[in-house]
Formats: sequence, structure tokens, C-alpha cells
Amino acid sequence: MKMIIILLLGYLLGSIPSGVWIGRLFFQKDIRKYGSGNSGTTNTFRVLGKTAGVSVLIMDILKGTLATSLPLLLHSDLPKLWVGLAAILGHTFPIFANFKGGKAVATSAGMLLGYSPLFFVYSAAIFAIFLLITSTVSLSSMISAVLITLSTFILPFIAPMILPEFDWLLSVLAICITAFIFYRHKDNIKRIKDGTENRVPFGLRKDD
Ligand code: G3P
Repeated sequence: MKMIIILLLGYLLGSIPSGVWIGRLFFQKDIRKYGSGNSGTTNTFRVLGKTAGVSVLIMDILKGTLATSLPLLLHSDLPKLWVGLAAILGHTFPIFANFKGGKAVATSAGMLLGYSPLFFVYSAAIFAIFLLITSTVSLSSMISAVLITLSTFILPFIAPMILPEFDWLLSVLAICITAFIFYRHKDNIKRIKDGTENRVPFGLRKDD
């Protein structure tokens, strides 16, 4: 019973629709009606600006981190990654925002932070490098998800200081979450193919 309650708490934490609430509270805008229509960090930056974007990024990451820490905080043997996964599902299908949520990227990063701060820094570095190269958040999110998943298999053998041991649950969940991230980015994939995907202004790749 306790484990089910913890999973439910993880889902509810993930369900906090930071982008939607910040948009409504401070800008009287439903972020889902503007830009890409997504309620995540990227669209918040795009539509509501830097301060709102950074706030949503921090909140969405922390949702995943706090959820992943719940088994420890509540003295349960439930593997923390399961609760992180519950938060990711809450983030994408939030009960507090008509089940219309984000694309799973920031809250997945939060889960990694709760799992291993060092592996989170490694993963964030991969994302930052590809964001700089491609200037495209969606593409960098998908490439990073694939590389992070591969890393869960390889790092324990070549760089145990970053990820000390192979954890099959981490690898299996990373595969599933990566597939889910690709599915949630299907509109972005179309735009990337058409050459119409939004780019950030600071990357190396400039608008054609
Ligand atoms: O995490 C979402 C990001 O990868 C893409 O967001 O708003 O450009 O569809 P957006």
C-alpha cells in the first residue's frame, strides 16, 4: 500500500503543470495556445521569456528529482527510478491540466539528478554540446536521450567514476523513456524534416 501511495505522490508531483500555472498566474496566457503548443521549458522561453523559462526548467527538473527521492525520504524499499517514471508520466499527462503536458525531457533529467548527480551533469553536458552544435532543442533532446541510454551500458565499464555499476533498471527505463521522448516529439520530427523547426539564437547553426 505504501509503495502505491509513493508512486501516486510521484505522479501528482510530476503533474504540477509549471508552464501552464506560471503562464496563467503571471502572464494571463495559456502557454499551450502559443508557439509549439507545448507546456515545457522551451516553449515557455519562446513565448514568455527568460525568467519564466528558467523558472519552468527548474521546477520541471525538481519535480523529477523530488519524486525520485521520495522512497528515501519516506523510508521505502521501492526503487527510486519507478517513482521518477511516475513523475515523468505525471509531467506528460498531468491530472491538474487536462492531461495535456510536456515532452518528458526536463522531468527525465530531474530523475537522473535524483539517481546520480554526477550522471546528471554528464547528461546535461551532452545536451549542451548538441544544443550548441544544432541550435535546436528538440533535436538535442532526442540525440541526448539516445546517447544517455547508450552511456548507461558503456560508462560502468569505461568510466566507472561517472556511473559505477551497470543498473539494468536504469538501462531498461532509459530505453523506454527515449522511445517515449521520440513519440512526444513527433511534430518536431516533422518540422526538422521540413526544415521549419525552431532554432535557439545562440547555437552555431544559424537560420537558413
Ligand atoms: O523538451 C521539449 C523540447 O525538446 C521541444 O519543445 O516547444 O520546441 O516543441 P518545443
